[in-house]
Amino acid sequence: MKRVHIFDTTLRDGEQAPGASLHPEQKIVIARQLAQLGVDVIEPGFPISSPGDFMAVQCISQEVTGVEICGFARAVKEDIDSAVRATEAAERRRLHMFLSSSNIHLDFQLRKSREQVIQIARSMVAYAKQFVDRIEFSPMDATRTGDEFLFEMIEAVIQEGATIINIPDTVGYALPEEYGAMFTRVMNNVRGGKGVEYSAHCHNDLGLAVANSLAAIKAGVTQVEVTVNGVGERAGNCSLEELVMAIETRKEAMGAVTGIQTQHIYEVSQKVSRAMSFPIAFNKPIVGRNAFQHEAGIHQDGLLKNRNTYEIMDPDRLGVPRNMIILGKHSGRHAIKHRVSQFGVNPTDEQMEALYIKFKELADRQKVVQDHQLMELIGHTVNTVLEPYTLLQAQVLTGTTGSRMASCTIKDNAEGSEIVFSGTGEGPVEALVSGISQALPIHVEFTDLELYSLSSGEEANGEAIVTVSWKGNHFRGVAVHRDVLMAVAQAYMAACNQAVREYFLQGQAQDQGEGDSIDVGEVEITIP
Ligand code: KIV
Ligand code: ZN
Repeated sequence: MKRVHIFDTTLRDGEQAPGASLHPEQKIVIARQLAQLGVDVIEPGFPISSPGDFMAVQCISQEVTGVEICGFARAVKEDIDSAVRATEAAERRRLHMFLSSSNIHLDFQLRKSREQVIQIARSMVAYAKQFVDRIEFSPMDATRTGDEFLFEMIEAVIQEGATIINIPDTVGYALPEEYGAMFTRVMNNVRGGKGVEYSAHCHNDLGLAVANSLAAIKAGVTQVEVTVNGVGERAGNCSLEELVMAIETRKEAMGAVTGIQTQHIYEVSQKVSRAMSFPIAFNKPIVGRNAFQHEAGIHQDGLLKNRNTYEIMDPDRLGVPRNMIILGKHSGRHAIKHRVSQFGVNPTDEQMEALYIKFKELADRQKVVQDHQLMELIGHTVNTVLEPYTLLQAQVLTGTTGSRMASCTIKDNAEGSEIVFSGTGEGPVEALVSGISQALPIHVEFTDLELYSLSSGEEANGEAIVTVSWKGNHFRGVAVHRDVLMAVAQAYMAACNQAVREYFLQGQAQDQGEGDSIDVGEVEITIP
């Protein structure tokens, strides 16, 4: 198997995505995570571009070990000096220099002749070589350059000491077979071309960045430049997680492996998305919310029998939290029964039939049936309320000054009592969370909140997904409401209810011993 090196440019090319810029402290945190993820090279920024970027590259070079650090520079002395200084403390380093090669860039951007550009490339590589041995050279817009001049430029920089040749598809124009063939021609025709390493760098304007990078690997490239979540200029760069999982999942076909520790993929993806305020599309491969969720009844049935029927990757191995089955109007009896049994509830056949009818009525009215709604349906079916608490009412006082205040009326369904709890916080969410938390017999940790607008315009519904943790277990509650704060409150209540049910089940398990059954109304709850 060939070892493909992963060159991560999330903090340089990825940061060039509109609105995605990061503070130096954020870059340092992400760089540490990238090193833990197992990338081979990190390009942490463009040192000459700002004092903040210089500082970030410098700190990362000082602190982050076990990975090669790359300084980025135009073919200009000041840029090279800055990149050399910023990466001085790195355990291992390289310098990445770029210079345009296509006619359109030469004529309109650089306003220089081909001879002048070759001269600049030669002299700047020679200049940089005095300071750094590993020099990566990128002829920018290479895929629109044409063989003759591309070969000439690459030959010139190899003669001056470039050790890695990156051929960027700067504008995402290439097709996979063209891109792969381009590397083959360079390797075979450029003098000195067999003695250097090759790198692919693809943009996603036509949605081909991953396909093009895979074609380059097939052609003999040993390094691929990627960004987490595929962030980057315009439609972005080749996505790290997609490329890595394509290689991992099809390693026999690719004849290649990477050094990526896949179990960290999801965590890093989430961190980058949050730090850059760059949302991940629901259907984004590998890390999107729907990437491992199934709604079709036939698929759900197959999955419950054997995961491999409809999944080619194991989300557990990527650190993706699992909520495989999405209950909606396409779900069948088998999937509903399975979900109900995950709550420790085993309805009789008759109860199940009644539940199924009510479920279908509800599912016809809304896209997805959430867990707390399912629990409510079971409760109605068997005349027992299974949710420990119901949020009957909530009011929040918010504004520009002072702390926010919330008042939450919560019903304890076992006791039948209704109590009003008040909470305060710096923001309305904190106030609501503090109010609701007072009703609970346990302390749960509020670990995550995702908020989505389900359509555009003022009348849009807000969807809130809240994750809480208790004793190391995560519980997710989902709610949709016209008032986004109420969506958060209900989602939090739903997540807490699951944690409290777990607490009750554990308490009863201790009292009664595992495997015993507890009678709750007319349904039987089996202690898992
Ligand atoms: O897309 C590109 O051409 C680049 C280079 C400068 C490597 O990001
Ligand atoms: Zn790029």
